[in-house]
Amino acid sequence: MINSHFDSTSSASFTGAELAGIRADFPILSVAGRGGNPVAYFDSAATSQKPRCVVDTLADFYLSKNAAVNRGTHFLGDESTTAFEDARYRVASFLGAIPDGLVWVKNATEALNLLSHCLSTPSTGGFTLEAGDEVVVTKLEHHANLVPWQRACELTGAKLVWLEATPDGRIDYSTLDRITERAKVVAFTHASNVSGAITDVERIVTKARSVGALTVLDSCQSTAHMPFNFSQLGVDFAVASSHKMLGPTGVGALLARPELLDRLPRFLTGGSMVSWVEMETAEFQSGPAGFEAGSQPVAQAVAWARALDYLSALGMERIKSHEDYMGEILLSGLREVPGIKLLGADSMAERLAVFAFSLPGLHPHDVGQYLDSVDLAVRVGHHCAIPLHRYFGVRSSSRASVALTTTEQEVERLVAGVKETIKFFGGRGV
Ligand SMILES: Cc1ncc(COP(=O)(O)O)c(C=O)c1O
Repeated sequence: MINSHFDSTSSASFTGAELAGIRADFPILSVAGRGGNPVAYFDSAATSQKPRCVVDTLADFYLSKNAAVNRGTHFLGDESTTAFEDARYRVASFLGAIPDGLVWVKNATEALNLLSHCLSTPSTGGFTLEAGDEVVVTKLEHHANLVPWQRACELTGAKLVWLEATPDGRIDYSTLDRITERAKVVAFTHASNVSGAITDVERIVTKARSVGALTVLDSCQSTAHMPFNFSQLGVDFAVASSHKMLGPTGVGALLARPELLDRLPRFLTGGSMVSWVEMETAEFQSGPAGFEAGSQPVAQAVAWARALDYLSALGMERIKSHEDYMGEILLSGLREVPGIKLLGADSMAERLAVFAFSLPGLHPHDVGQYLDSVDLAVRVGHHCAIPLHRYFGVRSSSRASVALTTTEQEVERLVAGVKETIKFFGGRGV
C-alpha cells in the first residue's frame, strides 16, 4: 500500500517515509544481486519495475474474471469485457485521451508500425503517402520511431527528412524549416531515451500544422515521468507503452484523435475487427475495434489501468519532482567522474533523469558488468538509438535512469560505483 501519510497535493519531492512506503510496494527492490546487496535499479527507461498491486491485478483477473471479451453471453465473458473496457476508459483518462481514440496494441513499436503501415496503404481517407511527400523525424528517435518510417518511405516513394540534434542532445529547432509543404507526417519523440531531453511539442505541432502535416508523438519515455495530456498536447497521434509505466509487458496504446481513426485503412485484419464478412469481402468495425484484430491483451490492459491508478495516487507532478531531485544529485555526482562524457545536457532543465554516458577507453559492457558486480543495474549498448550515438561520436554508452523508487543512497552508490569502475580497469578512461 502507498504510505497512508502520503499527500498527493504537495508538489515537493517525496519524504523519506513516503519513499519507504512506495518502495515497500515493489518486492523486487529487495532482491539481492550478484554482489549480495539489493539491486539498485537504474534501468527503468528500458522497463519499469511493477508494484505488487499490478501483479495482484494480473493474478486476480486470471483467477476470477478470465474469459474471451466481447464474445460470450456468459457471466465471466461479461466480467472480462467490463474489466477490459473499464481499463480502456482508465488508461485513456490517465493519458488525457478519450476511450474512442485508444487502440490496444502489444507495444509502442506495434503502434508506430500500425500508423506507418496505414499511412503507406492506398485508401480513401486522404492520408496515403506518395512520391514527392516527406516524412519528418528527428535525430533523437528510438529505432521504433525511425525504422517504420524508413519502411513507409521505401514503400511509397516518400522521402525521409529529419530535424538535427544539438550538442546537448536536444532537437535542434533551428532546423524546423525542414518541415515544408511537402511534409505529410511529422513523427517525433516526447523525451529522448538517451539524452532525456524533453521536446517542445507545441513548437513542432505549430509548424507541422502550418503545413497540414499529421503529427505522431512517441511518448514512451514521458508518460511515466511527467504529467501527460494527449488532448492538450495537440498532436494527432501518440503512442505509449505499459511496461514503461509500472504495467505489464504485452500491451500498449495508440492514441488518436478519434475522427482520424476511421479515415485510416486497417492494419491487422481477421476476427473481431469486422462487422460483416462474405467470401470475398469484409466490412470493418469503426473506431478502435476496427484495429483490434484477434484476441487482445486483456489481463495486461486491466493491470496497466491499475498501474496508472497507482501513479495517479502518487501524483505525476510529485513523481517528476522526486525524479528531478534525484537527477540533480546524480548529475552532480557524474560530473565529478574523471573523463566522463555525458550524452545530454549538463542540467536538469527540460529533461528527464535519464543519463547516458561513456567513459573513454572503457567499453560500456565492461562498465555495466563491473556495476552489476556491485549490484547496480544500468543499461548498456546503443539503446535502440544508433543515429544519436553516432552523432555523439560513440558506438554505445551506459545509461542510468531514475525512477519514482530511486533513493539518495542508491544514487550515491551509483556515483561511487562509476568511479570504482575506472579504478578497477586501471585508470583507463581518464
Ligand atoms: C523512446 C522510445 N520509443 C519507443 C520504444 C519502444 O517501446 P516498446 O517497448 O513499447 O515497443 C522505447 C522503448 O525502449 C523507447 O524508449
